[in-house]
Amino acid sequence: MSAVQIVEVGPRDGLQSVPTRVPTEDKVAFIRALLRAGVRRFEMGSFVSPKAIPQMQDIRDVIAGLGPLGDARPMVLVPNTRGARDAVAAGMTEIIYVVSMSESHNQSNVRRPVQQSIDDLGLLCREVDPDGRLRLRIGLATSFDCPFEGRTPEASVLRNIERILAIREDVELVLSDTTGFAMPGHVGGLARQCIAQFGDGITWGFHGHDTLGFAVSNVLAGHEAGLTVFDGSAAGLGGCPFAPGATGNVATEDLIYLFHRMGVDTGIDLDLFLEAADMAAAIPDGVTGGHVRRIPRQRLKLEGPRYAAE
Ligand code: COA
Ligand code: ZN
Repeated sequence: MSAVQIVEVGPRDGLQSVPTRVPTEDKVAFIRALLRAGVRRFEMGSFVSPKAIPQMQDIRDVIAGLGPLGDARPMVLVPNTRGARDAVAAGMTEIIYVVSMSESHNQSNVRRPVQQSIDDLGLLCREVDPDGRLRLRIGLATSFDCPFEGRTPEASVLRNIERILAIREDVELVLSDTTGFAMPGHVGGLARQCIAQFGDGITWGFHGHDTLGFAVSNVLAGHEAGLTVFDGSAAGLGGCPFAPGATGNVATEDLIYLFHRMGVDTGIDLDLFLEAADMAAAIPDGVTGGHVRRIPRQRLKLEGPRYAAE
């Protein structure tokens, strides 16, 4: 079966919710462990207001601390043109631009209406990337559920995607279950609608949180529907200790394990990845999740070959 791409979001989505300051050198060591495991695509952090997300204010030091990364594809999240400009100035060649599919979440996250975020994307493309050389990933937050409005209507998501694609066509679009309240049928259904309406020339991804425990099922539903890129956070790091019940992304190691047992290549070594996941789990005050990390390694080795390519 053809390969999938895993995007590790722990260094951004995971670390941004840890209430205690994580030293820059620990972030760098964590990312180096991810790279050793074969991770190629990952969120390195974000260029956002330090008042909004203080945990990301050392992003330039993280970039400098890592140095050249060979064939890896690091990305940073940006909420506006200002962030993109700063990211490019810091040498980044791939960014994630975040826009929510529901008004109230966009307002609370980036403090403006959805249409204004989309207009700002147009400005970003014209001013920061006039030659179209920047790799652009669009994080479609609250594609399924909004913490304030409940279920996001499919029509809103499709309409916003249409507006985004009118600005630029060669983008990666990531349907994001920001709250972790989506169900597999919803994920598969929306993914199929998107692919049918906008063609499969676009790279489609899924970003899921595991609040209700359905994230792995949602990934499977998305994969069956034709999505090829899946986000995960090592050890499921994430969530917010101040918002009871909110949890992090699906644990990346669970996705690697799942895909390997399905005979789908991820390019990542599970054993080495578990070392990185253990580092993520050791971060003080971090909230973790997932299953595979809790199983004895010998047991995992036993199951791997026996059930390969199920
Ligand atoms: N990076 C760093 N600083 C930025 C910035 C960026 N990308 N964009 C704006 N700022 C600064 C401004 O310079 C200003 O600084 P000052 O108070 O020292 O003058 C301050 O942030 C407020 O700027 P303003 O344009 O009024 O923004 P805002 O207060 O309406 O906040 C965002 C809007 C988008 C900057 C802010 O909400 C944000 O960074 N959100 C990120 C949220 C996020 O990362 N969520 C998780 C990912 S889904
Ligand atoms: Zn997220």
